[in-house]
Amino acid sequence: MKNSHISCLLFFYLLLVSATSDLIQKSCYEASKGNPANVKLDFCVSGFQGNPKAKAAYGVADLVLVSIETAIANATAIGSKISKLLDNKSVGMFARNCLKDCSELYSLAGSSLETGLDAFQAVDYGTANAEISAALDAPVTCEDQFKEKNGLVSPLTKENNNFRQLTAIPLAFMKMVQQ
Ligand SMILES: *[C@@H]1O[C@H](CO)[C@@H](O)[C@H](O)[C@H]1NC(C)=O
Ligand SMILES: *[C@@H]1O[C@H](CO)[C@@H](O)[C@H](O)[C@H]1NC(C)=O
Repeated sequence: MKNSHISCLLFFYLLLVSATSDLIQKSCYEASKGNPANVKLDFCVSGFQGNPKAKAAYGVADLVLVSIETAIANATAIGSKISKLLDNKSVGMFARNCLKDCSELYSLAGSSLETGLDAFQAVDYGTANAEISAALDAPVTCEDQFKEKNGLVSPLTKENNNFRQLTAIPLAFMKMVQQ
């Protein structure tokens, strides 16, 4: 009697776990199909895997919120990384100015994402879409700056590429919410 009760609970637990990982898989699959250049399936799925909020998601709208929060955290983390790079006294003037611009761009991107998050929660999809799209400007413009001087290698290529994907994900999910 007791055992069957436990296995019954276990059964529902497993059902729930597989249902949420299905949601992540399915949403990431659709997002990568809709925007293969910016959303890679593996990147999308693995980014949610260790996130308890993503695992508790009931629908793709919850994943929009989680993914915007992740992008905000990333913008902040990239800002800290840029500050550390600027601490290096051997970094030349040109690269230093690029890094300062990148810092500004990521700070603005963070604000845009915050505004986008609020707009999404207020069901103002037009504003949410515009603000989150604006955040995509940061990685592109940041990376381009370093190309303006021969021989200069961007120290932020990996961060810029990651952030581009992290921002493309909520945009793709938001489209699915509106369908
Ligand atoms: C930003 O997110 C990416 C992908 O999740 C991660 O690999 C990277 O470490 C994050 N960047 C920073 C500076 O935390
Ligand atoms: C500091 O910057 C110089 C010049 O870009 C670079 O060669 C060096 O590896 C950097 N040092 C550290 C600790 O990052």
